[in-house]
Amino acid sequence: MVHLNIDRLHGSVRAPVLGSISFLNEVMSRHPGAISFAPGAPHPDTLPDVEIQRFTDRFLDHVVARGASPARARRLLFEYGPSRGLINDIVAEALRRDHGIDAPPESYVITVGAQEAMLLVLRALFRSPDDVLALANPCFVGITGAARLLDIDVVAVDETAEGLDLDGLERACRQARMAGGALRAVYVAPDYSNPGGGRMTLDCRRGLLALAAREDLLILEDNAYAFTAATGAELPSLKALDTERRVIHIGTFAKTAFPGARVGFVIADQSVDDASVTPADDGAARTLADVLATLKSMVTVNTSPLSQAVIGGLLLEHGGSLDALGHAKSELYQRNLRLLLAALDRHLGDTAPAGVHWNRPDGGFFVRVHLPVPADAELLEVSAADYGVLWTPMRQFYLDGAGDTQIRLSCSYLDPDEIEEGVHRLAAFLTKETGQ
Ligand SMILES: Cc1ncc(COP(=O)(O)O)c(C=O)c1O
Repeated sequence: MVHLNIDRLHGSVRAPVLGSISFLNEVMSRHPGAISFAPGAPHPDTLPDVEIQRFTDRFLDHVVARGASPARARRLLFEYGPSRGLINDIVAEALRRDHGIDAPPESYVITVGAQEAMLLVLRALFRSPDDVLALANPCFVGITGAARLLDIDVVAVDETAEGLDLDGLERACRQARMAGGALRAVYVAPDYSNPGGGRMTLDCRRGLLALAAREDLLILEDNAYAFTAATGAELPSLKALDTERRVIHIGTFAKTAFPGARVGFVIADQSVDDASVTPADDGAARTLADVLATLKSMVTVNTSPLSQAVIGGLLLEHGGSLDALGHAKSELYQRNLRLLLAALDRHLGDTAPAGVHWNRPDGGFFVRVHLPVPADAELLEVSAADYGVLWTPMRQFYLDGAGDTQIRLSCSYLDPDEIEEGVHRLAAFLTKETGQ
């Protein structure tokens, strides 16, 4: 039998960030009776609406209305498809109408979730070991992990109350230059980050775009939680404000539709010059989306046509509107977040041990709680075994160990009575285990 030595495998296989999700799943499976504030998954109540056959038929009608024969339309579901995607026109129209993002369908690539989009974008942009990626700190493990898989050096820039420490980003650009390299891109989730829960102000968005222009940086915008903003409180995405095609916008249907579809997208309308290609050449790479589609053909080939059909049909069923698709879900998450914050106030407001405090996001799935003690695996075990409540240690989200004493609470997967009982248990745990 062959035995492999882990030292001879890629370094990422041992990176702690790659193990963070399985670590939490393992803790949850050992404590099935615990109330878990860990999963950032969509609420199960949002799933019964998914009528796969109806949505697939709706998509097929759309394809036929655009000129395909019914037989040809049906074959699309079962054959290999274009790497760029099948539902680009539907998604592009939704983003144009709802979010003011004016990018043609050809500049979209429909990906296997936002996760694949991140991997493809990083693969395409990062050529030299001297290129550095800046990450908002704390940061979504999906982008940190993708960078690790590709051996891309990262630098942390603090998330702040306004969004991002722009002075810190400017410093990071200078430092990368002084080290003989370049800061190539910065990843941010301006609309309710995971895990920080922060939202970038309009001024900070404009400041970031201006800084990116000065420093010739690309911006990777992750839009996963933007739909959770309260009605009327939405802010324009960086991509909607982008006049220079500096923003690569990554979206997902994991939260507005359902994660099992594994459908996301990336808007990459940056032009790519290639002196070796003449205008007469066919299939020449002209935009970053073309490049990403070529890379995708060697990764997942194409996003499942069946999944795309369901998501495309679902969007069409909602009048082609992303806002309409996300509306009821946004209300559910707004309610859950309000309940979580109210329960924290009620159970801990006056009696919280010194050093226990939390932020108050007005959207997204997550609340961040500071503790006076390290929030490590040992403390999580005590919380699960003795108090029946689970949370996510924040350490894994920080690039510099700064989150050692913080936990993340997610409100997305729980019902109101579970939120109430969970916070009741959490308050008992915090009072007994972290009080003096
Ligand atoms: C910040 C962020 N981006 C993207 C995603 C979704 O990624 P995917 O579409 O790959 O499921 C998530 C899901 O947890 C997320 O938290």
